[in-house]
Amino acid sequence: MGVGPARSTGLAPAKAILVGEHFVVSGATAIAIAINLYAKASASLAPRGSISISAQGFGMHGEGAGALRASGSEAGPFGPLISMTKAFLERYGIDQGVDIRLSSEIPLSAGLGSSAAIAVSILAALSSLFGIRLGREEMFDLAFVSERILHGSPSGIDHATSIYGGAIAYSPSGGFRRLSVDREISLVIGDTLRRRSTREQVLKVQDFLKRNPEIAREAFERIRGISEGAIFCLEGGDMEGLGKLMNENQYLLSKVGASSEELDRLIEASLKAGAFGAKLTGAGGGGCMIALGPPEALGAIEESIRRAGAIPYRVRMDSVGFRAG
Ligand code: MEV
Repeated sequence: MGVGPARSTGLAPAKAILVGEHFVVSGATAIAIAINLYAKASASLAPRGSISISAQGFGMHGEGAGALRASGSEAGPFGPLISMTKAFLERYGIDQGVDIRLSSEIPLSAGLGSSAAIAVSILAALSSLFGIRLGREEMFDLAFVSERILHGSPSGIDHATSIYGGAIAYSPSGGFRRLSVDREISLVIGDTLRRRSTREQVLKVQDFLKRNPEIAREAFERIRGISEGAIFCLEGGDMEGLGKLMNENQYLLSKVGASSEELDRLIEASLKAGAFGAKLTGAGGGGCMIALGPPEALGAIEESIRRAGAIPYRVRMDSVGFRAG
């Protein structure tokens, strides 16, 4: 452990799952990209035994936590993050308190991995504050502490993507593989502004898969092909092919109960406006959808999402992952 700055900062990106959400929880491969919406944490030393976390302004559209404050208690709104901070301090034998301040432009509970990005930004700030070179794998394990408390049995793809940045293929047993994507990827996101609990959505879909083994078997078979195809398209720069696979994936997500009428409406509008492919992203049931299209159609896709009653915004891939300073 070295000596860090008096106040340090950490920045971590949101993510968009291109294919494979929900199925990844049961072992399939999902592909995600980090996107240029960020959570930011700053950390400073506090008296021994004191951990406090406060937040100002979460989410892009005024939804979410507003100003929140929690001190020490693992039962409060930042309980999972406090547990993670304690795990960090214990792991590195640090007998010192910390004061953490958060802000984030990532919509909360919207499928974009806001909780994972917040956790990763805190770990980045803590590692800088205490002068610890935190390896990506250690960071992955520590971020899992809060993600598990929040989401039950998450696959790990959200925080893996936020940590590593770029495009990754991830399966719980095979771990992550960074894909080699040498072109800029832009997406249009459509936010329904309807918030859903990831934990409940995951339980609902897992329950459906258990009660419908035939549909599940067929869906996992198709998802394998979709993920393999998506890797091939991403690495080969075939965006039209990737879009088709996203549409196929959306069909399966709909079949297992992860979509919603609003999401379906936005997806249809985007396709009519020229998207190669469009699907829900993350846990679904509300939250966000993504559309991939040729650069010249992105404006029309945004407009179609707005006209269908949702908030569109354009994002691009973040190739870096977390930053500490
Ligand atoms: C959440 O962003 C993605 C899900 O597949 C859950 C998970 O992988 O932990 C729905």
